[in-house]
Amino acid sequence: MTGQSDRAVAELARAWRAGPDGVWTAPGRVNLIGEHVDYNGGRCLPMALDRVTAAAVHVRGDDQVQLSSDDPDAEPFTGRLTDLGPGCVSGWAGYAAGVLWALQQAGIEVPGMDVAVSSDVPLGAGLSSSASLECAVALAAAELAGRSDDPALRRVLIGAAIRAENEVVGAATGGMDQTVALLAVEGAALLIDTRDGVTAPVPLGLAEAGLQLLVIDTRVRHELADGQYGKRRADCEEAARLLGVGLLGEATLADVDRLTDPRLRARARHVVSEIARVDELVALVRAGRVAECGSLLNASHASLRDDYEVSAVELDTVVAAATSAGALGARMTGGGFGGSAIALVPESAVPDVEAAVLRACAERGLTRPATLAVTSGPAARRVF
Ligand code: GLA
Repeated sequence: MTGQSDRAVAELARAWRAGPDGVWTAPGRVNLIGEHVDYNGGRCLPMALDRVTAAAVHVRGDDQVQLSSDDPDAEPFTGRLTDLGPGCVSGWAGYAAGVLWALQQAGIEVPGMDVAVSSDVPLGAGLSSSASLECAVALAAAELAGRSDDPALRRVLIGAAIRAENEVVGAATGGMDQTVALLAVEGAALLIDTRDGVTAPVPLGLAEAGLQLLVIDTRVRHELADGQYGKRRADCEEAARLLGVGLLGEATLADVDRLTDPRLRARARHVVSEIARVDELVALVRAGRVAECGSLLNASHASLRDDYEVSAVELDTVVAAATSAGALGARMTGGGFGGSAIALVPESAVPDVEAAVLRACAERGLTRPATLAVTSGPAARRVF
C-alpha cells in the first residue's frame, strides 16, 4: 500500500469509530431483452438483482472525500470535493468520485464524507456492479445534502450517475443500468423507453409459472471489449445519419434494407429487430404467457452474435448448452464480449441446465462458469 493509502485507512478507521450516518444500497441488474438499444432510443427490459452494492457514509466536517472498499484490489482514494472531476481519479473510485462531482454539477451541495463500500454483485460479470456503486453513492450523497428522496430527485441522480460513467470513468455507456438501479420495482422487470426515459414495471410471474431465471457468469471478459462498445455506438450513429433519423430506434426494417454497407446494415438490423422483440416479449408477459418467451431470447442472442458481433465463444457455448439441456431460451446479457448470459429454465430442469453448462465449458477447455439463480430485487434505498 502507498503512504497515502496508509494515511487514508488510518483516518477512515478514526472516523468510523463514531459509526456511519447511514447505509445505502443499490442493485446490480440483468437485462432480459433489449440489448445495445439504450443509446439508440430503443426500449429495454432490465431487472434489478437481489444483489447490491452497499455504501456506508459518514459526513465529515471538512471538504475531504475518502473512499474505501472491502475489495482487497481496490485502492482507497482521498481528495477534496472541489478537485473531483474528469481525470481526477482512475479505477473503481472513479465511479464514486465521479458521482460526487456530477451531483455538484447538478447543483447539489454534497458534504465532505467518508464512504466505505462492499458489494455482492459479481465484479466484471456484466451485471452492472459499477452502476450499483454509482447509484448507492448518489442516493447517499443527495440525502446527506438534505434532499428528500422522491421521483424527481431520482431522475437527477440517474443523470449524475450517467455523467460520472461517461465523463469521469470515460465509458460511453447508455443509461439502462443507472435507470433500473434507481427506479426498479421489486418483483418486476422495468420497461424503459430510452426516447423519453418513461418507465413501467412489468411483473414477470416467473415463480407462478414454475420458472427460474438463471444467470450464467462466464467469468471471462475479453480485453478487446473496451474499444468495441464505442465502435458499435459509432456504427449506429453513422447508420442513423445515413438513414436521416435522429436515432436508429426511429428506423424500420424497410429503412435498414436501404443501407448499402453490409456492416452498418447488420448493426442497424440488430437494433431495429431487438426493439421489436422487446415489445413482443412484454406483450407475452403481460398476457400471462411468460413461458412462451424463450424463442425471443434465442433470437436476441443470435442477432447479437451474428449482426451486432458482441458475443464470445464462452457466451455462445453456455447459451447452446443451456437450451439443449431444457432451458426455454437463453441469451447473452449486458455489453457482451464475455460477462454473463441468462437462461429461462423450468424449475425442474435447473440442475440439468447447470450440469450441461459446466460440461460444455469443460469439454472446450473454457473457464468454469458460475451460475446464480436470481430474483428481482428493489431499487436503491437507505437501509440504515
Ligand atoms: C452496458 C451499458 C448499457 C447498455 C448495455 C448493452 O451494460 O452499460 O448502457 O448499453 O451495455 O445493452
